[in-house]
This record gives sequence, C-alpha cells and structure tokens, in this order.
Amino acid sequence: MANVRKGRLKTDKLADQGHTVVGVEASELAVQAFFTENGIQHTVTDVPAIDFKLYQDPDNKIRIYVGDFFKFSKEMEGEFDGIWDRAALGSIHLEDRERYVKLMVSLMSEDCQYLAEAYYYEGTCTMQRIPPPHSTRPDTIYKLFEYTCDVKMIEHVDLKQVDFICSPPFKPEIDVLFLYLYLFTKKK
Ligand SMILES: C[S@@+](CC[C@H](N)C(=O)[O-])C[C@H]1O[C@@H](n2cnc3c(N)ncnc32)[C@H](O)[C@@H]1O
Repeated sequence: MANVRKGRLKTDKLADQGHTVVGVEASELAVQAFFTENGIQHTVTDVPAIDFKLYQDPDNKIRIYVGDFFKFSKEMEGEFDGIWDRAALGSIHLEDRERYVKLMVSLMSEDCQYLAEAYYYEGTCTMQRIPPPHSTRPDTIYKLFEYTCDVKMIEHVDLKQVDFICSPPFKPEIDVLFLYLYLFTKKK
C-alpha cells in the first residue's frame, strides 16, 4: 500500500519535489527493496506500541511503515492530500474491505485526491495461484464508497489486449481481465 501525502505517484520523485510521502506495507522485504533499489539512505526505528517499524530517509521526506495497515491511523501522520493505492484494496481479505475503506476515508483531507487501481477478472483459467489479487467489480467499488466519496473511473485497460496477459499471477488463457483506475474525492 502506498499512501502519498501531497502529491502523485512516484514516491522518490515526489519527495524530490518537496512533498512528504508516507507508505504502509506489511512486507519488510518489499520496503527494504524500495530503499535499496532506489539508492536511498535510511534509518529504521521501532514503533513498539503498534508493532510497526518506521523506515525514513535522512530528510524525513519518505516515511514508510512496516506493519498491518489496520493499525495505522490519522493520529500517526495526520490527513493526506493525495493517496496512491496500487491494488491494495484487491490484496486484503474480502471481509476486510468495508473496514479498509472506512480507514482510508478517515485519512483523507477535505480536498484529498485518492487514486486507486483494481483488477477485474473472470473465466475458467484465471490465476496461477489463489488470490490475491481478488477480482473487484466496478459496482463493488462504487458501493463501497457510495456514502463517503464521489467515484470516477478515470481509466480502464483491457489487459487481454496487451503484453501484461503473459505475466503471473494471471494465466494467459484467462477470459476477461481489466485494470481499472478510480479517483475518489470526499463528498462535500
Ligand atoms: C499490489 S501490492 C502493492 C505493493 C506496493 N505498494 C506497490 O505499489 O508496488 C499490495 C501490497 O499490499 C500489502 N498488504 C496486504 N495486506 C496488508 C496489510 N493488512 N497491511 C499492510 N500491507 C498489506 C501486501 O504485502 C502487498 O505488498
């Protein structure tokens, strides 16, 4: 999950532009790889109260927490002006979706722009392993956010038409595979 304060997509580029970027990710390996692959020096501190670790760059512009997102809250980093959610909604257990959306909305500032992508797939030959990512229908997304946010689908890509279809975890024989990009803004 990448929750981005004051900005758009690329974490290190956003920090270069003066934005503060905050991320939350369960996999410490993934967080270590982010800092190593981008050549960013960092310190690691424990946040024992909630069983998190915090990875920070020397300017404190990139702050990535390792831990369970459901223990993250507004009290830790305030509200966010921008959020980039790269298929995280599809990565969590189906029964946690409403709880997830409630938490995400609680982190949005009044004018927050929350961008999220989600896969929708169906067919007899779908995955090389069991989900996640879970298939997420657009109407499910609209329903999850209907009371709190205006929802705009700003892009949809038919992945059957592009090279992506050959990539795991999806099988090449899959019948239907779309990637949707949504923009959520708080209802006024
Ligand atoms: C589609 S991946 C996105 C990875 C990365 N943020 C990116 O943008 O490339 C979804 C990620 O959600 C993480 N995840 C799933 N459930 C989580 C939770 N409860 N708390 C924190 N991270 C979680 C998984 O570890 C996985 O790396």
